[in-house]
Amino acid sequence: MIILGIESSCDETSAAVLEVDPPSHKVTAGQSGKPKLLSFKVSSSVKEHAKYGGIIPEIAARKQIEYSIPVIEDALRDSGKKEVDAIAVTVGPGLATALQVGIDTAKSLAYAWQKPLIPVNHIEGHLLSPLLDHNDMKFPAVALIVSGGHTELILMKKYGEYELLGRTRDDAAGEAFDKVAKLLDLGYPGGPVIGTRSKEGNKEAFDFPRGMMHSDNYDFSFSGLKTAVLYESKKHSEITPELQADIAASFQQSVVDVLVHKTIKAAEEHGAQAVLLGGGVSANQVLRETLAQRCEKHGMSCHLSPLSYSGDNAAMIALAGYYQYEAGRGINSDVHSEEWQSISAQPNLKLI
Ligand code: KG4
Ligand code: ZN
Repeated sequence: MIILGIESSCDETSAAVLEVDPPSHKVTAGQSGKPKLLSFKVSSSVKEHAKYGGIIPEIAARKQIEYSIPVIEDALRDSGKKEVDAIAVTVGPGLATALQVGIDTAKSLAYAWQKPLIPVNHIEGHLLSPLLDHNDMKFPAVALIVSGGHTELILMKKYGEYELLGRTRDDAAGEAFDKVAKLLDLGYPGGPVIGTRSKEGNKEAFDFPRGMMHSDNYDFSFSGLKTAVLYESKKHSEITPELQADIAASFQQSVVDVLVHKTIKAAEEHGAQAVLLGGGVSANQVLRETLAQRCEKHGMSCHLSPLSYSGDNAAMIALAGYYQYEAGRGINSDVHSEEWQSISAQPNLKLI
């Protein structure tokens, strides 16, 4: 089965062509086909937003319109395939107008080609992204999704059967990285630059709070940490590059400590055989290394989102689309059907 994935939920416009073999309906039996990515393209408007220190929805949507068809055309050409069997598209959560560009494009293609359309939840894309590399995962598994808008711990009983264990009560982990980078004058987005600057800093320079680390639930809170960084930075008349690096490293360590501690605790308490890590923040090297080490110590397998698919991308959407389709959630191209007409942007869509 060949699936064209389309992602347009925020500032990345992405298309991917995924082949899954065999395409038989085995998911319910706990088995599934082996995914092979034939092509993958992404265009980003992040530089446009960087000037403003954060995402500007109007600019994001306009750029989606500009990039959408060229990105899809490139992905189709590189895949070497003349035809696809289905089209998977992100329907939410995300920016309404940006999402709608991808959805309208996907609908037009599905109609023109008379192929099924598969609505995909962006979070499920991040959740399944580690499986682009690795598809023989053992259940139950615990997944940590950390992005600019989400921080969620999810128990995966099998494909499509999820239980929410905990989520952030305030800022998402990526949002905390972005806000702290802004405080330190490091620009937008904050995650990558904090990761880089941290390498030059001392992670023990400041003892920042580890919010809710020992609470008896799986929720997170990062706003106290952000405030602690603000107070610390105000104590100094000048933020020198050395101070920037020390604050960045100490902040990053605090986030990683909490995320890893709670993920391992959740995995142990739920008898998880595997731990998954996905979302933009999963590109963080210290988080990846620490989680992998802790999983090894506890005898659990650890599946990290491949670095190219940690941020927003259509490869994970095509993969999540495959599982949705196997579960019978594809929508045929009858434009007059209620199902077809119900497909539109759902900015606040939840996974669970
Ligand atoms: O998944 P994503 O691309 O978009 C959303 O769905 O939100 O995540 C973007 C977030 C941003 O907050 C960005 O700062 C963060 O991921 N991020 C990182 C790193 N790379 C991106 N955070 C920490 N370390 C990184 N290397
Ligand atoms: Zn995302």
